[in-house]
Amino acid sequence: MPLYEGLGGIGLINEKNITVIIDFGSSYTKAGFAGETGPRVITKSEVKCRETGKIVPVFEAKDDEELRHHLVDFIHKLYFRNLLVNPKDRRVVVVENLLGPSSVRNAIAKVLSLLFVPSHLVSLMTLGMNTGLVVDLGYNETTVVPIYESVPILSAWQALPLGGKAIHSSLCELLLDRALTVGEDGKEQRLSAVVEQLSDKVLEDIKARTCFVTSLDRSGRLQNNKYDRAVEPPPPPPSVQYPMSGSRILTLPGSVREMVTEILFERDEDMLSVPSMILNSLMKCPIDTRRALAENLVLIGGTASLKGMKHRILSEVRALVTSPPFSDVLQINSFKVHHPPAKDNYVAWLGGAILGGTEAVVLRSLPRDQYIINDTVPDWCNLAFNTKDEHDEKSA
Ligand SMILES: Nc1ncnc2c1ncn2[C@@H]1O[C@H](COP(=O)(O)OP(=O)(O)OP(=O)(O)O)[C@@H](O)[C@H]1O
Ligand SMILES: [Mg+2]
Repeated sequence: MPLYEGLGGIGLINEKNITVIIDFGSSYTKAGFAGETGPRVITKSEVKCRETGKIVPVFEAKDDEELRHHLVDFIHKLYFRNLLVNPKDRRVVVVENLLGPSSVRNAIAKVLSLLFVPSHLVSLMTLGMNTGLVVDLGYNETTVVPIYESVPILSAWQALPLGGKAIHSSLCELLLDRALTVGEDGKEQRLSAVVEQLSDKVLEDIKARTCFVTSLDRSGRLQNNKYDRAVEPPPPPPSVQYPMSGSRILTLPGSVREMVTEILFERDEDMLSVPSMILNSLMKCPIDTRRALAENLVLIGGTASLKGMKHRILSEVRALVTSPPFSDVLQINSFKVHHPPAKDNYVAWLGGAILGGTEAVVLRSLPRDQYIINDTVPDWCNLAFNTKDEHDEKSA
C-alpha cells in the first residue's frame, strides 16, 4: 500500500474519488469531503516559512513564488496530516471569496486541479435559497454580496476591514490602557507595565471567552457618556479574572468586555460600520430586488458567532434605515435573518460540500494542466466563462 493512500488504502475512506472541499480563510482554513455535514478539520492558515523557519500566515508572502511555496507546504500538510487521502487526481472544490485577490486564485490553481466556487453564493445553497444578502464577518474583513436569483449583484458589493482582526487590535489597546494584573507576589500592576503587546492567540482566547456585543440601547448610552460626562453611563457588566502565562492573573474590566466590539458599529462621519455596509449595499441594488434581499439576510463567518452580534446588527439596521441618508432612498421596514444549518464559521464550506456532491464538479472543474496552457482561471463574475457556447447548445 503506497504511503500516500492513507486511510483510503485501508478502507476507512472507501470512496476513492470523493471530492475534497477547502475553504481557505485568512485566519482559519476549513477542509473536508463533499457530501459531509461539517469539515474534517478547521486549522490555522499558517505554514513554516522555508527561508526563516518561522510560522507565518499562508497568504502573507513577499512575491508570487513565496506564496506558491506556502501553498504547496500548507496543502501538503492538509492532505497528509489532516485529511489522510491521496491528493493525486482527486477533485477539489475551493470556496473562494469573490472579492479576493486574483493572485491568490492563480497561485492555488498552479497547485491544484480544481473548481472555484464563490463563498457567498454557495452559503445560500445551505439554505436551499437563491436570493439573499450574504454578509461574511471573517477575520480580515467583512464583505457583503447581494445575490438575486443565484446571480451575485457585483456592483453592490461592500468590503471593510471590520472583522476579528479589528476586534483584536481594539481589545489589545483597551487592555493595555485599562487592565490590571496581579503577579505571584500579590502586587497589583497595570498590564502595560508588564507586557508591551499581547499575542493574537491570547487576544482571540480572551475575546471568545469573555467578550460580547452589547445592545443598541446600552451602546447609545455609553456613547453619550463618552461625549458628555454629565450623562450617567449604564452600570458596567462584572469584571472577569483571566489567568495569563505563569501564575499572573489579569483582571478584565467589564467595560472592556462590552466595548471591544463597538469598533464594528462606530458611526463616524463616513458611516463605515457593518450595519451601514448592509444598507449601502441595498441602496446600490436594483429597486425591485431590495425588499426580497432585506428579508433574506444571511450572516456568516466566525465573527458572527460572538454573543449578541446578530441581534445587534439586526436592531441597528432597523434603526438606521429610518434615518437619513438611508430613509430618503430605502422604504423598507422588514429585515429578517436566516439561520444556516451549520456553525457560522463553516457555512461557506458546507455550501461547497453540497455543490461538491453535484455534477458541477465534473462539468466545471479546471484541470491544472489546462490552467498551465491557458493561464487563466474561469471566473464566476466573468461572462466569458459563463455564456452557453455552441457545443453546449448542440449537446443540450
Ligand atoms: N465562537 C466564536 N466566538 C467568537 N469569535 C469566534 C468564534 N469562532 C470563531 N471566531 C472568530 O472568527 C474569526 C475567524 O472567522 P472565519 O473562520 O470566518 O475567518 P476566515 O475565513 O479565516 O477569514 P476571512 O473570511 O476574512 O478570510 C476569528 O477572528 C475567530 O476569533
Ligand atoms: Mg472566510
